[in-house]
Amino acid sequence: MSPVFLALLAGAFSLLCFYLYLKNNYWKRNGIPTVKGCLPVLGHMLPMLTKRMNFSEFVRLAYEEHKDSSMVGIYKGTKPVLIVRDPNLVKNVLQSNFSNFHENGLKIIPELDPLLSKNPFFCYGEPWSIGRKRLTYAFSNVRLKILFAAVSGVCKKFEDFLDRQLKTCNKYEVDLKSLFLRFTGEVVANAGLGIEGYCFEDAAGANSFYKLTGNTFTESLVTIIILHFSSINRLLKFNFLPKSMDEFFRKVVSENLKVRRNDSTTRNDFLQLMIDMEKTGEVIDEESVSAHAVSFYIDGTETSSVTLNMIGHNLAAHPEVQEKLRKEVKSTIEKHGGLTFEALKDMTYMNQVINESQRLHSGLGFLHKMCTNEFELQGSDGLTYRIKPGTELIISVMGLHTDPKYWDNPDVYDPERFNDERKQTIEKMTFLPFGEGPRICVGMRMALLQMKACLATLLSNYKLELSPRTQVPLKMSPHYFLSEPIGGNWAYISKL
Ligand code: HEM
Repeated sequence: MSPVFLALLAGAFSLLCFYLYLKNNYWKRNGIPTVKGCLPVLGHMLPMLTKRMNFSEFVRLAYEEHKDSSMVGIYKGTKPVLIVRDPNLVKNVLQSNFSNFHENGLKIIPELDPLLSKNPFFCYGEPWSIGRKRLTYAFSNVRLKILFAAVSGVCKKFEDFLDRQLKTCNKYEVDLKSLFLRFTGEVVANAGLGIEGYCFEDAAGANSFYKLTGNTFTESLVTIIILHFSSINRLLKFNFLPKSMDEFFRKVVSENLKVRRNDSTTRNDFLQLMIDMEKTGEVIDEESVSAHAVSFYIDGTETSSVTLNMIGHNLAAHPEVQEKLRKEVKSTIEKHGGLTFEALKDMTYMNQVINESQRLHSGLGFLHKMCTNEFELQGSDGLTYRIKPGTELIISVMGLHTDPKYWDNPDVYDPERFNDERKQTIEKMTFLPFGEGPRICVGMRMALLQMKACLATLLSNYKLELSPRTQVPLKMSPHYFLSEPIGGNWAYISKL
């Protein structure tokens, strides 16, 4: 090799090192503390790439590492990403200066994910505002009351299913996540699309919604690239929604529309509302209706079953809380003459139990936002940073939910934190299971309705106990984007 070539090679290498040094010194140059463990090229992504932890857990640890800072920097590869820790800054991002941060950080490629691209989560500007208004109406009190008839039917199927399992044994041992996925899958089919979901069939067939569930939020190498390296994904072109799911929903909607065109029955499900909204004259935009069906499924099924899974665990681990809730459920059902929409609204201790479970194990452990207009972030500790358009921001929901600065004995499960008196003292923006501000989960009321109906059915007839198969304390899986305990969440269910 000639000395000139060697000199050029050494020069190029030095330049590359200098470039990487500059890139990974961005936060230091801007006076923002950096989370430890940054590597050249990979930044802080090694633990996720090697499956040591999921991103949510990494962000929580990053939040905890810098207890006294309002902001802290990380790198996704060489890209600087800001974690805002201070509740005031969280408020700036999610609420007060929403127009500067109105886009979500998670990006998909619309041509590769056409159905998902119409979901409000992935939209901004006018398409977001139109989609958001439609869903706000779809989950208004009046519409929820109508959807409740279908949810009520699912509760009956749920009870029949449990009774069938308990015919041959006194205690039915089950992984609660899979049990609750049957429930939320059937709600999507019945209340969402007005069809049978076959989720409570003992041997779920190919057309069962239950078969679809459970793999959408796996943290694989592909989803890591989609979630965190959008510029690389513009070259690799990975789609988020599995092709099988895209085809499944297009087929379901197409068949469903055929039936509805030849049938004059009045329907009250979510899909009918969306069909009416997407109709121009007599023409129905089938693609948009399929997109609504996917959204209802993607947004509602796993998020709600993961949350129910954690509530189920806490109820099994705390029999005294379970008993207190059972008393409320039974007396409220008696007062209302059945498990009605109004009865569910009256179950206030139920809200406390759900809130406290979401605090300790939030389904989504972080919020991911994008700056769209330059803005000066001013932390209460004196740190300031002028954030530029295109910079990603992360809010560690789990970090805030378990910070001893805001919660006494944060690791203790105590639904009394959310009683009428004590909930007034909770610092704003430290409890974010559904997000906050204009982009707060638009399906929150639907989620609470189905979760409360499911829990009321379970507690009024059955008892939950922890199975020794569950590894306590729970450790969350690095293979899953949402909170899911390693080894499953096993419990015994028996008749009261
Ligand atoms: C327990 C269950 C659920 C949890 C924990 C949950 C949580 C969340 C969170 C944290 C966000 C992001 C908020 C933000 O970016 O600031 C969100 C957004 C969203 N959720 Fe949910 N969700 C649940 C159930 C549902 C259901 C049942 C639906 C509808 C069927 C739904 C529809 C949506 C939609 C459309 C968005 C995007 C809203 C927007 O960007 O304007 N969610 N949800």
